[in-house]
Amino acid sequence: MEINMVAVIGPFSSRIAHVLSNLANEVHVPFLSFFALDPTLSPLQYPYFIQTAPNDLYLMTAIAEMISYFGYREVTAIYTDGDQFRNSMYILSSKLWEKRCKLSYKTPVLDSSSPQCINNALVNVRSKESRVVVVHTYPKEGLLVLKAAKRLGMIKKGYVWIATTWLTNVLDTTGFSTISALDLQGVLTLRPHILDSDKRQDFERRWKILSNGSIGFNTYCLYAYDTVWMIAHALDKFFNEGSKISFSNYTRVKGTKGLNLAALGIFDGGKRLLTNLVKTNMTGLTGPLRFNPDRSVIHPSFDIINMVGGQSWLLGYWSNHSGLSVQPPETLYAKPSNRFSSNQHLRSVVWPGNTTEKPRGWEFSNNGKPLRIGVPVSASFKEVGIQVNGSNEIHGFSIDVFLAARKLIPYPVPYEFVIFGDGHTKPSYTELVNKVAHNVFDVAVGDISIIANRTKVVDFTQPYIESGLVVVVPIKKLDSSAWVFLRPFTPQLWIVTTVFFVIVGIVVWMLEHGWNDKFRGPPKQQLVTILW
Ligand SMILES: *[C@@H]1O[C@H](CO)[C@@H](O)[C@H](O)[C@H]1NC(C)=O
Ligand SMILES: *[C@@H]1O[C@H](CO)[C@@H](O)[C@H](O)[C@H]1NC(C)=O
Ligand SMILES: *[C@@H]1O[C@H](CO)[C@@H](O)[C@H](O)[C@H]1NC(C)=O
Ligand SMILES: *[C@@H]1O[C@H](CO)[C@@H](O)[C@H](O)[C@H]1NC(C)=O
Ligand SMILES: *[C@@H]1O[C@H](CO)[C@@H](O)[C@H](O)[C@H]1NC(C)=O
Ligand SMILES: *[C@@H]1O[C@H](CO)[C@@H](O)[C@H](O)[C@H]1NC(C)=O
Repeated sequence: MEINMVAVIGPFSSRIAHVLSNLANEVHVPFLSFFALDPTLSPLQYPYFIQTAPNDLYLMTAIAEMISYFGYREVTAIYTDGDQFRNSMYILSSKLWEKRCKLSYKTPVLDSSSPQCINNALVNVRSKESRVVVVHTYPKEGLLVLKAAKRLGMIKKGYVWIATTWLTNVLDTTGFSTISALDLQGVLTLRPHILDSDKRQDFERRWKILSNGSIGFNTYCLYAYDTVWMIAHALDKFFNEGSKISFSNYTRVKGTKGLNLAALGIFDGGKRLLTNLVKTNMTGLTGPLRFNPDRSVIHPSFDIINMVGGQSWLLGYWSNHSGLSVQPPETLYAKPSNRFSSNQHLRSVVWPGNTTEKPRGWEFSNNGKPLRIGVPVSASFKEVGIQVNGSNEIHGFSIDVFLAARKLIPYPVPYEFVIFGDGHTKPSYTELVNKVAHNVFDVAVGDISIIANRTKVVDFTQPYIESGLVVVVPIKKLDSSAWVFLRPFTPQLWIVTTVFFVIVGIVVWMLEHGWNDKFRGPPKQQLVTILW
């Protein structure tokens, strides 16, 4: 840090990025990260920090949209404990919420976690209801999590596993041999989408020769390569504009313990170089390189991949422009954005357990709580509502309807009845409904009237019994007369109707009497039939 520099190519972790971005602000040195970091590194707070790969905001949006597309409502997540992943979890949660889904449980695995810790995390995940698991970690922890999940028999029919871009990074860098022993049949994963260009294939060929085919490269290597060129272009422009590289001594803080801040040089042309970088307009290995006004990379998009039989199948793409599609996003940018759910498509998935039947996505957990069912108990309406018989048993028509309905559900539903009211006075039905709305009860069963206010806070079944209550209002007595048949229409309507029939009558009469000889048209008989 004591060597004068004009730009820094960035770190892999958000924590370091946060720290160093503050420093970059002080010394006016543009700081570029080619790795997907968390989106809280905003250009407002860190003007000298630039992310050259799509950040986790888009990754999390893509995952939320996949989950919503498959129709799941609750999701569990396993993440590495750290700033980046915690922030990403927050984003996943809010993106799911936008889709009316829920991140119902999330559990961190610690950086240097012991197998025991990962095991415990997975056992917790298994005890929850959701069977949709998102794994958002560094590659090392991700592999440990999947290995442990395999051992615990959790990568099987009924589960949905979504591994974020770390899994494709592992695959692209080290090949399938690393994971072949894991048998990740049915796992879904994502990879930043890169346009397949001649330029890129040419680079791949050169890379193979250079590395003797011994080192693979993942998408972020391409972003790294492009980042270097981005800086080169910006510097080229900087010199063409006649600027010179110079540094001034950093005077704001004198040296502190260990870190000699006084030795830092402030890059005088930092602001100009930054402007050139933000205005980048070139084509790299990853496709067109430009930044949006908010400094996010243009056209963030991902490939969606399904692990099938030790291979990766492309299910489709996600792009910020048009959501999920089976056509490559480049072909869609010319068209207007269409994010309607009817326009979202992916190829069919092979799920864990080698099945194409979509998992339900949740399970009643063994140690899960049974549904708490509130039952109003009142002194009146015993037959229709419920009765408490000496013991704590509950009977009655509503309960019978509930039990009959439960029998039709193809899986067990644990439940417990909770009596609401003292059995002597009439319980407050509004309070009961509010308790359902506030999750004190999961369900209420009983003689609860469906009224407008209540439908705003809870869902009702279709009514299965009439209350027998009717509204009685006075009506004006009408004379019974010979003209009573006229009543359905107003006088105006009668006039219009009469005029219409008179005109039709006249036309028919004219046709029957040969008037149509004067007109050209269909044969007389046919027209008369049609008109009649
Ligand atoms: C590739 O092979 C050449 C010649 O055998 C060797 O000099 C070079 O170090 C190798 N490169 C790598 C990355 O292994
Ligand atoms: C900056 O500090 C160095 C020593 O750390 C000194 O040699 C140099 O003259 C200073 N430059 C300016 C412009 O003050
Ligand atoms: C980027 O460059 C191309 C030509 O190379 C030009 O057509 C386009 O307008 C430029 N875009 C911006 C935003 O400057
Ligand atoms: C992503 O899409 C949203 C809404 O469709 C839009 O507001 C936002 O600007 C887009 N971002 C990028 C980087 O294209
Ligand atoms: C998965 O099922 C397909 C056909 O249903 C079969 O061909 C394939 O061998 C199965 N793969 C595994 C790993 O069981
Ligand atoms: C209440 O309990 C008594 C005896 O325990 C039984 O005879 C009666 O049928 C019960 N009433 C209902 C409604 O089940």
